[in-house]
Amino acid sequence: MDKRLQNKVALVTGAGDPRSIGWGIALALADEGADVVVNDVNPSGLDDRAADLRARGVRAMGCAANVADSGAVTAMFAAAVAEMGRIDIVVSNAGIIRWEHFLDITPDNLRALVDVNLKGNVYVCRAAAQQMIAQGEGGRIIITSSVQAHRQFPITPVYGATKHAMFTFVGALALELAPHNITVNHIGPGWVRSALNDPAPDQQDAQGIEANRRAVPLHRPGDAYEMGRAVVYYASPDGDYVTGDYTRVDGGLGIGKYSLGNV
Ligand SMILES: NC(=O)c1ccc[n+]([C@@H]2O[C@H](COP(=O)([O-])OP(=O)(O)OC[C@H]3O[C@@H](n4cnc5c(N)ncnc54)[C@H](O)[C@@H]3O)[C@@H](O)[C@H]2O)c1
Repeated sequence: MDKRLQNKVALVTGAGDPRSIGWGIALALADEGADVVVNDVNPSGLDDRAADLRARGVRAMGCAANVADSGAVTAMFAAAVAEMGRIDIVVSNAGIIRWEHFLDITPDNLRALVDVNLKGNVYVCRAAAQQMIAQGEGGRIIITSSVQAHRQFPITPVYGATKHAMFTFVGALALELAPHNITVNHIGPGWVRSALNDPAPDQQDAQGIEANRRAVPLHRPGDAYEMGRAVVYYASPDGDYVTGDYTRVDGGLGIGKYSLGNV
C-alpha cells in the first residue's frame, strides 16, 4: 500500500524523549512516509531521534527550542524550512503537568503551565499557520490536548484548564484558517506511561498503577504510537474534510468514572 504522507514534511514538538507521545507521533508519521522535524526543549536526545527516523528511510532533523519562547519558535521554523524546504504538518504536542491541590498552587507552577501548555501552543500554531499560508497549499495542524480537555480530575486543575482551553482555541483556529485549507484538530490521550507521568501520585506503587488500569475501560495504558495513529488520521487524506475536531485516544477513560465493579 502507498504511504499516505510521502513528500510531506512534519514538525512535532516535545518529541525528544524515546518514551514520549511526541516520539510515538514522529514514528507514526515517518511510517507513512513523512519527513520529520523533531523538536524538544531538551536537546540531548534529538540527534539520536533524527538518526532513528533517517534509518526508517525518511529525511529528519532535530531542532531544539522552547515552545514557550516566541522568538525560539520563529527561529525553529526558519531552520526547519531552510533544511527541509517546507512544512505541511505541525503537531503541537509539547506539554507539562504539575500535580498540586488547588489550595497549594504556586505562582511558578501556574506560570509554567500557562507558558508551555497555552502560550506554547499559540506560538507554535501561529508559526505553523504563517508558514503554511506562505506556501499556499493548505496544511494540517494537530494539537495534543488530553482527556482532561473534557473530563475533570483532581490535583491537576490548572493543567486541566489549559487542556480544556484547546477546545476553544482549536475551534477558533479551524474557522480562521479554513479559507487557507488548513485544518486544525486535537487529540486527547488518556493514560500513557511516559516520563510525564512518572512523578504522578497514583503511579508510585503497583496498587496505584493497577487502579489506573482498572479505571480505563480497555484495561491498559495507551502506547505513544497509538496516539501517533490518530494524528496520522488528521494529517492524511482521510482527514481532508475534518477540522475543528477532537478525538479521544484513551481506551475509553474519558467516557466517565463508573464501571461495572471488577469488569
Ligand atoms: N502521558 C499522558 O498520559 C498524557 C495524557 C494526556 C495528555 N498528554 C499530553 O501529551 C503531550 C506529551 O506528553 P508526554 O506524556 O509525552 O510528556 P513527556 O514529558 O513524556 O514528553 C514531553 C516532551 O516535551 C518536552 N518539552 C517540555 N516542555 C517543552 C517546551 N517548553 N518546549 C519544547 N519541548 C518541551 C519534554 O522535554 C519532553 O521530552 C503533552 O501535551 C501532555 O500534556 C499526556
